[in-house]
Amino acid sequence: LYAQSAKPPIMGWSSWNHFRINIDEKMIKEQADALVSSGMYAAGYRYINIDDGFFGGRDSSGQLYANAVKFPSGMKSLAGYIHNLKLKAGIYTDAGRNTCGSIWDGDKKGLGVGIYGHLEQDCDVFFKRWGYDFIKVDWCGGEKMGLDEQKTYTEIINFIKKIDSDIVVNVCRWKFPGKWVVNKADSWRISGDISADFSSILKIIDINADLHPYSKPGSYNDMDMLQVGRGMNYEEDKTHFSMWCMLNSPLLAGNDLRNMSAQTISILTNKELIALNQDIGFVQAKRVYREGDVEIWLKPLGTNGKVKAIAILNRGSKQADFEFQSGQLGLSGESKLRDLWLHNNLGKVGASRQVKIPGHGVVVFKVG
Ligand code: GLA
Repeated sequence: LYAQSAKPPIMGWSSWNHFRINIDEKMIKEQADALVSSGMYAAGYRYINIDDGFFGGRDSSGQLYANAVKFPSGMKSLAGYIHNLKLKAGIYTDAGRNTCGSIWDGDKKGLGVGIYGHLEQDCDVFFKRWGYDFIKVDWCGGEKMGLDEQKTYTEIINFIKKIDSDIVVNVCRWKFPGKWVVNKADSWRISGDISADFSSILKIIDINADLHPYSKPGSYNDMDMLQVGRGMNYEEDKTHFSMWCMLNSPLLAGNDLRNMSAQTISILTNKELIALNQDIGFVQAKRVYREGDVEIWLKPLGTNGKVKAIAILNRGSKQADFEFQSGQLGLSGESKLRDLWLHNNLGKVGASRQVKIPGHGVVVFKVG
């Protein structure tokens, strides 16, 4: 029963994939507006997460401040704008003295200051003065200082959750951080940074294949921000989105929401796929079959798992003509199939089924 009251993976948008450190308040507000007007709000997206790049530095008392040229109205006013749209606002820090951008991604002045030595002061700014609801805690600065991850992150998360246990915390360590993170952070990155190519998508799926024991209701493996609408083809974007839904990853769009194609919107707002990600059983899919380029992934749904989602993934670049046996997946021939991309009922599954899966494509069924 605890499962039904847990928080599902968060859904929203994050600035990093498309904008990197080149962010400003006008653009962020426009993303928030577009999240609503595109239909993404109606599909369940809520968070507007500001990643690296908002920093101005610290003053002589150690007080962190934002870049006043990029954010002339200030970070509190920006969170207010986001909240007025009934959205949640997310912010970013590093466990060490510097953020990743300030070490190696174009922030030449090294303005990105991490939380190390300023835990109380920065939390006061982020959550009490500015009013943010989410924080991503990165590790470039922590790594540079040789900090102990478990100790450092535990201290940071405990402090934040004491301020308000509803603040959502993401740990960004580029690999599964270790068992300690489960039920401590709300989500944790399991891989290096995602890129908009299919090999990156497959790599992250493979990493997460073994991590299902750590995904718990309210506490998830983070496969990184979405690259939907950022250069992969339609089949690849659909596969990427499907697998992030099947594997209970947070769903944070990383594209520019102000100019999306109709196809990109249709992928990001596929409510039948999103329902798998947000399902109250909170079970991460497992790979149950692999032969050549074809894999079958199974995700039990609901509180008793009688209804399941099945994703058949084609890793290869050519169409796969594939037949699966219902018995082999533990399904009765009487179970009914629904295609969650075509939004079609396909009738009883029968003893076996033929499916054609486009190159780099996926077919997702609900069976029950
Ligand atoms: C790291 C993270 C990214 C992003 C950048 C910001 O690379 O993994 O997701 O937050 O830092 O500099």
